[in-house]
Amino acid sequence: MVDIHAVVMPTHIIALGGSLLRPEEAEQRPIWFGQLRQMAVHFEGNGRKLGIVVGGGLPAREGITLARASFTDSYRLDNVGIAATRLNATILQQSLLDIGCDVSPVIPTTTIEAAELLNSHNIVIMGGTTPGHTTDAVAVALARDSSASHCVIATNVSHVHDSDPRSNPEAKPIEEITLGELAEITGTEALGPGESAAVDPIAVKWAMQASIRLAVLDGRDLSGLEDALEGRPFVGTLVKVE
Ligand code: UTP
Repeated sequence: MVDIHAVVMPTHIIALGGSLLRPEEAEQRPIWFGQLRQMAVHFEGNGRKLGIVVGGGLPAREGITLARASFTDSYRLDNVGIAATRLNATILQQSLLDIGCDVSPVIPTTTIEAAELLNSHNIVIMGGTTPGHTTDAVAVALARDSSASHCVIATNVSHVHDSDPRSNPEAKPIEEITLGELAEITGTEALGPGESAAVDPIAVKWAMQASIRLAVLDGRDLSGLEDALEGRPFVGTLVKVE
């Protein structure tokens, strides 16, 4: 006989990049938000657990720009960014509570706390934790602390490229790469407050330390995100441990 309490529900961790919450995406956002809510309901219905780490987007950008006018200390600017991520996390949390999902009523401030909350709720939503990294790294830490084997990094580009496509039009998309090879592209040094990259170098470093597989994909396409979560082939970059 199977003891119901011994059955571990599979846990999926997603970084919903701040880049998805910028004004450039504003027009599509109501539809995207609706699809995201549907996805959460679907996952919950299928007995999965979801940890979602939400980025700072527009409030982070505006907050950090405003704050820079009066101080420049990175630690303090990062704290402004973190406040913005928690605001966005609260919007998503309230939106899922509103449709009856079993979402943690608390926005955890550490990944250990979030992992514990995943024991008693189907969905836990959080933002940033401490200065020095972005929410990509928080998602990797949550995957580690909740014993998930992988973490999906949903951003506003379809793939990791072999160089920065913003400055090099010849940059080529990568479908499969190892964490070590990714670290050669991103480096492992922290980004400055509000700085953006396809994947946060600290997230890559922590994924290497904890052997967490990554899927990097365009989070605007929620069917692609669902493919990756379901373990189906997906459009994006699969980052293997080795
Ligand atoms: P984001 O995670 O939104 O970074 O955090 P981002 O780079 O803009 O988003 P994506 O993932 O590339 O789309 C916004 C800012 O908040 C601070 C940092 O200053 C970051 O740039 N932050 C966030 C922290 O210092 N610690 C955290 O845990 C999270």
